[in-house]
Parts: sequence; C-alpha cells; structure tokens
Amino acid sequence: MKYISPSLLSADFGNLQRDIEMLNASQCDWLHVDVMDGLFVPNISFGQPIVKHIKKHAQKPLDVHLMIMDPGRYVNDFKEAGADILTVHYEACTHLDRVLHAIHDAGMKGGVVLNPSSPVCLLEDIVQECDLVLLMSVNPGFGGQKFIENTYNKVRQLRELCNRKNPHCLIEVDGGVNLQNAHLLFEAGADVLVAGNAVFKSNDPKATIHQMKQ
Ligand code: DX5
Ligand code: ZN
Repeated sequence: MKYISPSLLSADFGNLQRDIEMLNASQCDWLHVDVMDGLFVPNISFGQPIVKHIKKHAQKPLDVHLMIMDPGRYVNDFKEAGADILTVHYEACTHLDRVLHAIHDAGMKGGVVLNPSSPVCLLEDIVQECDLVLLMSVNPGFGGQKFIENTYNKVRQLRELCNRKNPHCLIEVDGGVNLQNAHLLFEAGADVLVAGNAVFKSNDPKATIHQMKQ
C-alpha cells in the first residue's frame, strides 16, 4: 500500500479550511493531525476543539498522532472530536495494552508510535494489537526537521516483525519525508508516509502528493 498522510502542522492555521479543501481535492489518503502537550514534546500544537473543526471539513480519515503524556486519559475525547485512527507513543504510556484496547473499544483504528531512540524489538508483545505502527524519523515536536537515516533499517526490521506476528499491521513513517526519500521508504516496506513541509511548502502541493505516491 502507498498512502500519503499530509501533516496539518505545516498548514496555514489562519486558512485551515482552505488547506483541508486542497487536501480533499488531492490524492492524499489520510489527514495527519499532530496533537502536542508541551510536556511529552517541547511544543504545544492544538487540542480537541481544533480537531473537531478539521473533521467538519475533511473528507478523508483523520490520522491523529498524540504526542501527549498518558494519552489513555483522552481516548474518548479524540473519538468524539472525530479521530478515525489514533496513535499513541510507546514512551508515553505505562499500560499500552490497555490504551490500545480502549482505542478499539471506542471504534477507532489504533497504533503505537516509536521515537527514533526506541528499538523495534519493544513491539514484540504489542504488535498483535496494532492496526498500524508509526516510526518517528525525527525527534517529535516540530515540522521541518532533517530525516534520520537509520529509519530505513527500522522499517525493514518492523516489516520482518509484522510478517511474523501481524501481517495486517501498516507501517507509517513521520518526519522529514520528502520527494527524495519517499520511494526509498516505500521500497523498504513502509505503507503510509506523513509529510508536512514537503507538501505545504511546495509550490504545487497536489502535484507533490501525486509524485510521492509514484
Ligand atoms: C513531528 C510531527 C510530524 C511533523 C512532520 O513531531 O509528528 O507529523 O508535522 O513534519 P515534516 O514532514 O515537515 O517533518
Ligand atoms: Zn506526526
């Protein structure tokens, strides 16, 4: 599968509706929504009220990436706000299995996110519960950072783990994805690529999305 999930963190927040309508008309598959609490990551982005507004205009599934401590506290809030897919960080959950069950019980697809320093082997006993795994290819918190090359190895390791334990699990990559590395990530075994700056800072975002999927 070759999915593109543009990150609204790089959109123009003053013209969010316009940017979402552009994505509706593009070939992107999901809308990536980055929620940050200023504690798990240094930055604060936005919370449920903004997600609700995004949902009002979006014609594609909302792929909500929670960069917040103890995300289990907010599973039902983000369901109500309109999340279709909810991913939570391995590093932010004490009881990850419980959180994934809560996400599924709420009727969403659920996944785990790994920071660049967290090895794929940490997923050995949780990948069975995941609809997707998101590998961070930058340290989370900001758009526009440089892609970490070791991500290719992690994608291959994760593909191997998924083949063994959960072939239906999707592999998503987030951070520093661009037209140069997108095809290499798909080749390594990624299914979904998140792209913020590469899409929104492009002169022709729709054409960039189209090219990324080639
Ligand atoms: C980073 C966020 C990413 C970010 C990606 O913490 O999780 O989704 O928006 O932005 P780019 O593609 O510009 O690195
Ligand atoms: Zn993200």
